[in-house]
Amino acid sequence: MSDAPISAGEQPGRWVAVCARERLTQHRIVCATIAGVGLLVVADGDQVHACERACPHEQADLSLGRVADGRLYCPRHLAWFDLTDGHISPGWPSRALRRYPVRIAEGHVWVDAGAL
Ligand code: FES
Repeated sequence: MSDAPISAGEQPGRWVAVCARERLTQHRIVCATIAGVGLLVVADGDQVHACERACPHEQADLSLGRVADGRLYCPRHLAWFDLTDGHISPGWPSRALRRYPVRIAEGHVWVDAGAL
């Protein structure tokens, strides 16, 4: 995550504001959609992450999960995903969680739509 402002020299339209930063003080998980792709913005302490919304195991809605100690827990089978690299907890036959670049700038959370 970067605190650098979005600069005019970056690819136009690539960074999309998905929610106000303030919302993450009230909710640890915020849902968003960019170009029809569901994603989550997740606050873990002072860290902010963005990731896919559907669990890669059996597509449970991860917005109904919980966040603790750098992990996002799936509500269906309680596997967890490491928010720093997306890896699933040991023993689960699933790919890693897709994560997207995220920035805080101008009072908003921005996600790199080019990474979707
Ligand atoms: S559906 Fe998420 S761990 Fe199984």
